[in-house]
Amino acid sequence: MVKIADIQLPDFPLLLAPMEDVSDPPFRAVCKVNGADLMYTEFISSEGLIRDAIKSRQKLDIFDSERPVGIQIFGGDEEAMALSAKIVDTVNPDLLDINFGCPVKKVVTKGAGAAVLKDIDLMVRLTKAVVNSTSLPVTVKTRLGWDDASINIGDVAERLQDVGIKALAIHGRTRCQLYKGVANWEPIARVKNNPRIQIPIFGNGDIDTPEKALEYKSRYGVDGIMIGRAAIGYPWIFNEIKHFIKTGEHLQPPGIQQRVDVIRQHLHRSVEWKGTKAGINEMRRHYTNYLRGLPNIKEFRLKLVTISEAEEIDAVLDEIVKRYDGFAFETRKLDMASLTYSCEN
Ligand SMILES: Cc1cc2nc3c(=O)[nH]c(=O)nc-3n(C[C@H](O)[C@H](O)[C@H](O)COP(=O)(O)O)c2cc1C
Repeated sequence: MVKIADIQLPDFPLLLAPMEDVSDPPFRAVCKVNGADLMYTEFISSEGLIRDAIKSRQKLDIFDSERPVGIQIFGGDEEAMALSAKIVDTVNPDLLDINFGCPVKKVVTKGAGAAVLKDIDLMVRLTKAVVNSTSLPVTVKTRLGWDDASINIGDVAERLQDVGIKALAIHGRTRCQLYKGVANWEPIARVKNNPRIQIPIFGNGDIDTPEKALEYKSRYGVDGIMIGRAAIGYPWIFNEIKHFIKTGEHLQPPGIQQRVDVIRQHLHRSVEWKGTKAGINEMRRHYTNYLRGLPNIKEFRLKLVTISEAEEIDAVLDEIVKRYDGFAFETRKLDMASLTYSCEN
């Protein structure tokens, strides 16, 4: 069993990574029923929260059915981080996560996200400010360092543990790498094997198959893994990994009926959360991912992203099930590079 403060997680938990514009409550709901053990909100700007920006506040929405769930914040100002930690407290998530890894320009140029990797003292002060302002367990998600010449995650892990964080998730890339190349888990393993480190260490980066999850589990010895891109349009990845680790066998990939059932659940949650119009609109960006691998799907997809009536969407989904009945999906080959975090510019 893995424990983050008093939160009990199963052995080798699988975490859903925080993902902007992706890991909202509807998406988290479908990941939860498909095996995610701990989930996070997308990152929320501390400045936005304090300004009471509606968009930031809405990201605080969490539901009991998804517990344990963490709220992730970012920022480069101690006071703003402390204040937003207090705001997060009021919604009572299971934990508060700080993002020190986001590489996108709009975040980094404000001295937040991965920018903090260049200034460990600031990172420690920001973390301390948050820990002192909340009764929640505080965790951190970060990268290896700013660039190849300054991989400082070993130092970062010790110093953040010393100011009271309860777990650390590490994406095996530097800020300068963005999403290029392959994630390097060696430094993550070194953190895990450091006898000074007592908190759970979660590895993150490029896990996209059950084989890789098992291989990295054995090779790097981390306490659990965090999965981002591979869950987009494929929440089954969590149970598939669990089953493979337990039995060495693959679960049957979901058939068309199962996939459409999840699309319906996702859509239903989206409408429930955002209302009919916004819920239907927001679901549009997910169809391509769910329907990947189906030949000649373009026409159906086009309908799904243009129709605005729930009944009509339902009818198209029925048609898809009928048309692809019995279709044998190939094992998914993800083009991870095409799924990168695109708001860099
Ligand atoms: C679309 C997208 C949005 C992301 N948003 C966040 C975020 O809000 N907070 C965060 O800490 N990381 C964010 N990330 C990074 C992921 O949490 C994760 O670290 C990264 O995708 C590597 O994991 P993966 O290879 O399993 O995808 C985002 C990644 C993607 C692809």
